[in-house]
Amino acid sequence: MKQRITVLGSTGSIGVNTLDVVARHPERFEVFALSAASRVDLMFEQCRRFEPVYAVMAHAHAAAQLADRLQQASLKTRVLGSADALQRIASDERVHVVMAAIVALVVGAEVFLKAVREGGAQMLPIDSEHSAIFQSLPDDPATWPSRVEKIILTASGGPFLQRDPATFHEVTPAQACKHPNWVMGRKISVDSATMMNKALEVIEARYLFGVQPKQIEVVIHPQSIIHSMVQYRDTSVVAQLGTPDMRVPIAYGLSWPERIESGALALDFRALPTMTFLAPDDLRFPGLQLAWEVLAGPVGSTAVLNAANEVAVQAFLDGQIRFDQIHRVNRATLDGWPAPRVEGLDDLLAIDRQARERARTLAHQMGQR
Ligand SMILES: NC(=O)c1ccc[n+]([C@@H]2O[C@H](COP(=O)([O-])OP(=O)(O)OC[C@H]3O[C@@H](n4cnc5c(N)ncnc54)[C@H](OP(=O)(O)O)[C@@H]3O)[C@@H](O)[C@H]2O)c1
Repeated sequence: MKQRITVLGSTGSIGVNTLDVVARHPERFEVFALSAASRVDLMFEQCRRFEPVYAVMAHAHAAAQLADRLQQASLKTRVLGSADALQRIASDERVHVVMAAIVALVVGAEVFLKAVREGGAQMLPIDSEHSAIFQSLPDDPATWPSRVEKIILTASGGPFLQRDPATFHEVTPAQACKHPNWVMGRKISVDSATMMNKALEVIEARYLFGVQPKQIEVVIHPQSIIHSMVQYRDTSVVAQLGTPDMRVPIAYGLSWPERIESGALALDFRALPTMTFLAPDDLRFPGLQLAWEVLAGPVGSTAVLNAANEVAVQAFLDGQIRFDQIHRVNRATLDGWPAPRVEGLDDLLAIDRQARERARTLAHQMGQR
């Protein structure tokens, strides 16, 4: 029986790569639903090619445009634009797999993981680092606590690994979005330049693999050949290597525990560059340490950091604040944040809203200077 897939964010970088893998295995996968925000042209092409039952557009005008074009082309895909549409296409009982490139784990891991457990779902990591760790761990999660010493997340160091931090105030959005090894969306590219992406990955790794924050280490590996590693009690290190192509972790997530063709180029060990490693430096990447700080803080602190960072990155991309002010917005939003009560999703959403408001005010104030 074919696996029916819902892809959330199908017009983004992860979504496009997911559909590339899916298209290579028509005997195995079938697209049930796709979602995007506003890119109608690409969504229309995807609907024509994959004939999903549903397409969701978050923006109402885009939903109306897509519906018109699908009708003119006599395509049967139904367009949904309602507020609960994403929930509907993710939870439809005909769906086997949901590809969700979302921040839920960072915002409220306890609440999210409880829902996964109670719903009887299986969550598999797609991010290249977490997929690498998952591939380097033993099959049985019950053995992880007794065997694993630490998790070593690798980081490319982004585009400013060699740049003088004293010039960070001059960095433009175009420079920050130009990642040396990976082609990604703009938000995550800026996160990679500040290494906030690694801070968010540290938070995710802590919950995905049930390790203590002090068992997670970050090492810069500019060539992005080793995608992350696990060190065992006996000091043995198991790593996953490959070319920097998101189709590899995507194909693994879709086919686990089997392996299928991903379309990526294989590594040629005889032509590999020298692999180098270095410790992240706090002056260049001050945001990285915030991961351990929020993990030690009250529940909900991770949601505050995530919300502040989303606002700060957008403010930078919009030209409102400077690159070096992203961290200052994050830091100032976290400072003095009261320990909130978190009992469920509503509390987390409230924290997210309040943190965004505070970060927006701070970004506005900084932008005026
Ligand atoms: N790209 C990578 O290599 C990579 C690696 C690791 C982790 N991730 C994570 O994966 C996620 C997606 O990354 P990406 O690079 O694929 O991002 P992206 O290229 O910016 O794509 C975002 C996708 O989400 C859709 N979208 C935006 N706002 C939405 C809304 N309000 N409601 C519904 N859909 C919305 C976009 O639709 P439109 O196109 O219509 O705007 C697009 O399809 C991020 O959380 C990122 O951190 C990405």
